[in-house]
Amino acid sequence: MILVTGATGNIGSALVGQLHDRGGVRVRGLTRDPGRASFPEGIAAVEGDLTRADSLKAVLEGVSSLFLLSGMGADAEVLAVARQAGVEHVVLVSSITVQTHPHLPAAGENLAVERLLVDSGMAWTILRPTQFASNTLWWAQSIREEGLVRAPYADTGLPSIHPADIAAVARVALTEPGHSGRTYALTGPERVTVRQQVAAIAAALGRELSLAEISRAEAHRQLASFLRDETADAVLDLVGGDVNDELSQVRPTVAQITGTPARSFRQWAAENADAFR
Ligand SMILES: NC(=O)c1ccc[n+]([C@@H]2O[C@H](COP(=O)([O-])OP(=O)(O)OC[C@H]3O[C@@H](n4cnc5c(N)ncnc54)[C@H](OP(=O)(O)O)[C@@H]3O)[C@@H](O)[C@H]2O)c1
Repeated sequence: MILVTGATGNIGSALVGQLHDRGGVRVRGLTRDPGRASFPEGIAAVEGDLTRADSLKAVLEGVSSLFLLSGMGADAEVLAVARQAGVEHVVLVSSITVQTHPHLPAAGENLAVERLLVDSGMAWTILRPTQFASNTLWWAQSIREEGLVRAPYADTGLPSIHPADIAAVARVALTEPGHSGRTYALTGPERVTVRQQVAAIAAALGRELSLAEISRAEAHRQLASFLRDETADAVLDLVGGDVNDELSQVRPTVAQITGTPARSFRQWAAENADAFR
């Protein structure tokens, strides 16, 4: 039995779909609200909250493999409860910033969770994805209402990843041998700039969109309305203010592990065009 956390989210929803399509394994999808979740037939929606590890005891019964998103809750307690429940293997989604920007607080937090897992006594596989294609959903409202994207660093290329490719690597690690004790840095197939992302969304929508490049200070003002100051700074460093070779590198890992080329941003935009309509 596999328990998928974040099962209604970007990676998790793709993962439950891929596990369902391949068949041959029993899967539970974790959500805080099973009434709202709609999983493929045969996949049980189970209730639990990652901030309250106790709430996971029942749903971990009989689970041998756990797909876990780092930083969504009480990671140390969740890993302890998983171990006690008899989980044998954990596939953890961490972040590439652990190796590209280790000085950032969020990277330190992810590294601490990785270390807890490695020391947990359970088998482990660590996924370190770069920024997700789905982060562009931040633009959905201004695209819908104004046909406009306001963003800094418009011409910085980064190899953003389709969440379904993180799911594809996770599916292989959860169901096939040979991935225990491995850490995988994951990227998309090419570098793509904000300008190119806006063009890809416009093409998927079949309408023109405008891009207004804004300064870092202006972007910081916008982010600071819902993020802490240091988090807003970290986000801006990672989208263009402090990009290094490690972060901008295109890696072959997705194709090597899944046997299929990594999906392009254009594909993500085509699949998710409705979110911008
Ligand atoms: N975005 C990026 O660029 C990026 C880059 C590197 C790494 N990451 C990592 O990727 C992960 C996020 O993945 P994602 O985009 O697939 O996630 P997501 O779509 O943002 O959220 C996944 C799901 O988590 C569930 N959730 C939220 N709080 C919960 C809680 N307290 N208990 C149980 N479930 C909870 C929600 O489902 P319900 O509402 O149904 O409970 C939500 O649908 C994080 O670990 C993040 O650090 C992100």
